[in-house]
Amino acid sequence: MPQKRVRNHVNPLSILIEHSFKGFGNDNPIFVDVGACKGEFSAALMEKFPDHNFILFEIRRPLAKKLAEQFADKKNVAVFDGDAARNFRSILEPCLNQGAKVEQIFINFPDPWFKEKHKKRRFLNASFLQKCSEWLPESTEIVFQTDQKFLFDETLEEVETTPYKPVEFFKNSAHEIPTHWEQQKLLEGDEIWRVILKLVNS
Ligand SMILES: C[S@@+](CC[C@H](N)C(=O)[O-])C[C@H]1O[C@@H](n2cnc3c(N)ncnc32)[C@H](O)[C@@H]1O
Repeated sequence: MPQKRVRNHVNPLSILIEHSFKGFGNDNPIFVDVGACKGEFSAALMEKFPDHNFILFEIRRPLAKKLAEQFADKKNVAVFDGDAARNFRSILEPCLNQGAKVEQIFINFPDPWFKEKHKKRRFLNASFLQKCSEWLPESTEIVFQTDQKFLFDETLEEVETTPYKPVEFFKNSAHEIPTHWEQQKLLEGDEIWRVILKLVNS
């Protein structure tokens, strides 16, 4: 039977969805995948880190629904649709309150939003980082990977205006797991740009 195609557009209403979360009820370390898409990266991370908890955000509802079905039998996985930025604090803070460490937040190959007038839609922007600096602990690492050099450079310029700093530029795929998008870009011979950001409150 032919597979149903997942449409690419984002339902504008899904951007407004607001979630709450009680946390996982334990203090296991957490990995967050922003824009998890079809979940290949997270699934591979789960294999490597079975004792971690995983929070997956995906704005496209049909994809989020599939992710929820895919990981339905895993107690250490929570999937949320809607805009990750809008729900970030309400989802992650209850976990921090339970003593869990939000170890790494992966922003893998986010939509670049090329046009000047759309730049404010970029996920990793100064306003988002500024808000994160008010409640996320210093130990949390934000891992950003992209094949778009201009996006990488412009994002680092934004980062400079926030309490976050680039602490490591790295060469190989995070945890040696190339994401689905990354695999395609590597096949096309594209270069990948990668950095870890951390809060430096000094
Ligand atoms: C270019 S794809 C990369 C997918 C995957 N991370 C990878 O590397 O293979 C970007 C993904 O981020 C999702 N996305 C974009 N903006 C988002 C947001 N604000 N919140 C959650 N997901 C978002 C898109 O729907 C899409 O699945």
